[in-house]
Amino acid sequence: MFEPVLLKNINMPDSYKLTSYMSSGGYQALKKALEMTPDSLIQMVKDSGLRGRGGAGFSTGLKWSFIPKDPTLQKYLCCNADEGEPGTFKDRAIIEYDPHQLIEGMVIASYAIGADTSYIYIRGEFSLGADRLEDAIKEAYQKNYLGKNILGTKFSHDIYVHRGAGAYICGEETALLESIEGRRALPRIKPPFPAHVGLFGKPTVINNVETLACIPHIVNRGAAWFASIGPAKSPGPKLFGISGSVNKPGLYELPMGTPLREIIFTHAGGIRPGKKLKAVIPGGVSAPMLTEKDLDTPMDFDSLAAKGTMLGSGAVVVIDDSMCIVKAALITHEFFHHESCGKCTPCREGLDWIVKVMRRIEHGQGKEGDMELLKKLCVDIFGRTFCPLGDGAVMALRGAFNNFTEEFEYHIKNKRCMVNGNR
Ligand SMILES: Cc1cc2nc3c(=O)[nH]c(=O)nc-3n(C[C@H](O)[C@H](O)[C@H](O)COP(=O)(O)O)c2cc1C
Ligand code: SF4
Repeated sequence: MFEPVLLKNINMPDSYKLTSYMSSGGYQALKKALEMTPDSLIQMVKDSGLRGRGGAGFSTGLKWSFIPKDPTLQKYLCCNADEGEPGTFKDRAIIEYDPHQLIEGMVIASYAIGADTSYIYIRGEFSLGADRLEDAIKEAYQKNYLGKNILGTKFSHDIYVHRGAGAYICGEETALLESIEGRRALPRIKPPFPAHVGLFGKPTVINNVETLACIPHIVNRGAAWFASIGPAKSPGPKLFGISGSVNKPGLYELPMGTPLREIIFTHAGGIRPGKKLKAVIPGGVSAPMLTEKDLDTPMDFDSLAAKGTMLGSGAVVVIDDSMCIVKAALITHEFFHHESCGKCTPCREGLDWIVKVMRRIEHGQGKEGDMELLKKLCVDIFGRTFCPLGDGAVMALRGAFNNFTEEFEYHIKNKRCMVNGNR
């Protein structure tokens, strides 16, 4: 059985307090890291094979190595704790139950890239998490794990908690930077990339909570240990949030690459009584859905990409046979449409049209040619937007189309639902 790494402390009494964290070896990694050179730390993270857990799966060590080495330049670390992808509830568990794990990872990451200041951009609804982080940061200052000359070294570091106000787009890394700077969260054009022109125009690394929480373990147990868990190109422990039609929905920590079937049927207790599995969204609603035939797919970045979908945030949403896929796709696209920031025309206008056409199909007023119209709208959006939100919406719709074409066609032709007969 896999021994939890990231969630190992969360059932301890007062797990969010410094005393609990220290009792399980907390801040030992920071001591070790401060004895290393920043470059050797970056190399260690590269060697571990850690890939970002925020969705894109980019190499964390490589991202850190892009930060200019000039010691006179101000640099920043931003922790992305926006966790807005529907179905995702992994970062929240770390923040609420083990905030010191994140803080320790952030101080080590900041030392590696030479940042004296970092921000945690936390989703506005996470008020308990934000309070716990603020308290944990105070405790860390008292023990000099934060502040001036940390543990007697020349390295000083401050962390600030920045509360968001509830928009999905704030999780897109450049929109997040705009929001911290006090502006409306509109994504920036790239290049320049944040590693060169980031927060307040300075070199910045943006990393997800789960990514940063992996860092103390890599420092403590070594790059080779981390690299030995799961597939060689996509290693490490991974948090999977499972929701939908399963008997035991919840958060599970498993090796990267665990097959989808094992996650659903062994860990999450299988499909609810009397229902059959119809579809699975493997990584948050932007990830195209899979079906029964794909259940043996290993849950890692590359295996899912090979199936035309993605690991994303690791949020597994299970859909049973009582759910209409047209309705599921409509709900998803109402979300994307609502959350589109409106900066670029293909996403702003395209998603508005997609929702209009989807609504009429779902409401039994679909017209001949609507499928072709939706497909054309997808072509008009895909690859033509400022940020990946538009592409994510298209990928989700294409996934539903490709796997369940007959349900869309039935709705249009018969003016009713194939699954539950509703008009
Ligand atoms: C619309 C949108 C929303 C996103 N939301 C989040 C989020 O809530 N949390 C997150 O870590 N990354 C989110 N991302 C990905 C970030 O832009 C970025 O890739 C990530 O924070 C980088 O961290 P990592 O390298 O540790 O994965 C989002 C991306 C997009 C396009
Ligand atoms: S793709 Fe959508 S969310 Fe992203 S910048 Fe354009 S309008 Fe905004």
